[in-house]
Amino acid sequence: MAEAALATRAPAAAGAALLSVRGLEAWYGESHVLHGISFDVGEGEVVTLLGRNGAGKTTTLKSIIGILQKRRGSIVFEGVETIRMPSRQIARLGIGYVPEERGIFSSLSVEENLFLPPQVRPGGLPVERIFELFPNLRERLSSQGTKLSGGEQQMLSIARILRTGARMLLLDEPTEGLAPVIVEQIGRTIAELKKQGFTIILVEQNFRFASTVADRHYVVEQGRVVDMILNSELDQNVDKLHAYLGV
Ligand SMILES: Nc1ncnc2c1ncn2[C@@H]1O[C@H](COP(=O)(O)OP(=O)(O)OP(=O)(O)O)[C@@H](O)[C@H]1O
Ligand SMILES: [Mg+2]
Repeated sequence: MAEAALATRAPAAAGAALLSVRGLEAWYGESHVLHGISFDVGEGEVVTLLGRNGAGKTTTLKSIIGILQKRRGSIVFEGVETIRMPSRQIARLGIGYVPEERGIFSSLSVEENLFLPPQVRPGGLPVERIFELFPNLRERLSSQGTKLSGGEQQMLSIARILRTGARMLLLDEPTEGLAPVIVEQIGRTIAELKKQGFTIILVEQNFRFASTVADRHYVVEQGRVVDMILNSELDQNVDKLHAYLGV
């Protein structure tokens, strides 16, 4: 699908996009990895980035949050161009990043991990609300990071971002390596966060899971967005998606 056509298929209900990425290019050193990523995310939407290994999904998230500084193009969040901002300034606009490796400090307790990231904006969830979303964490508050299961670590890494006041969440493969029952729990959490008005970009390999939480799916291939599929039209597009993802 042509880039212009992708852009015009923006979500009907979203109005102006909360996040608008245009012609994003990014490099690791000399290695040119993103070649013109373009997509929009409307306020309150959950969209996924789907694509094969090495397609550029993680790099796209790192570019949005500014951890990867060598980037070019345009990333507009709430009307503000962020492409030249350092990552702490981008975070203060209200974007939170949950990396694939989760980043839990093993020597710290759950509570210490939870309070580690600074509040970047007013409106972060109070700890009581966080425990309603993740009851397991309340029980494990004094446990050391190393003692947590993969699922608990994932929940903690999402939970601590909710404290910061971020309204847009970038989640990199939150279900990777987790048991089906935990995947379901994370799915319910994402649905609840959407209900509370959070906007979410979800990187996923598992599009079956993605289809249970997302409004739309962007397909990333070799550093470009090559297609957009509405979740409501996923059934008609399963063959196409299989071809894109090589599954
Ligand atoms: N730190 C790095 N230094 C150099 N090249 C990198 C680095 N990280 C990723 N790359 C390369 O950039 C490209 C995009 O990688 P990226 O991690 O964004 O892919 P991805 O879509 O997230 O893949 P996966 O599904 O495996 O997580 C790949 O070719 C990868 O080898
Ligand atoms: Mg990745």
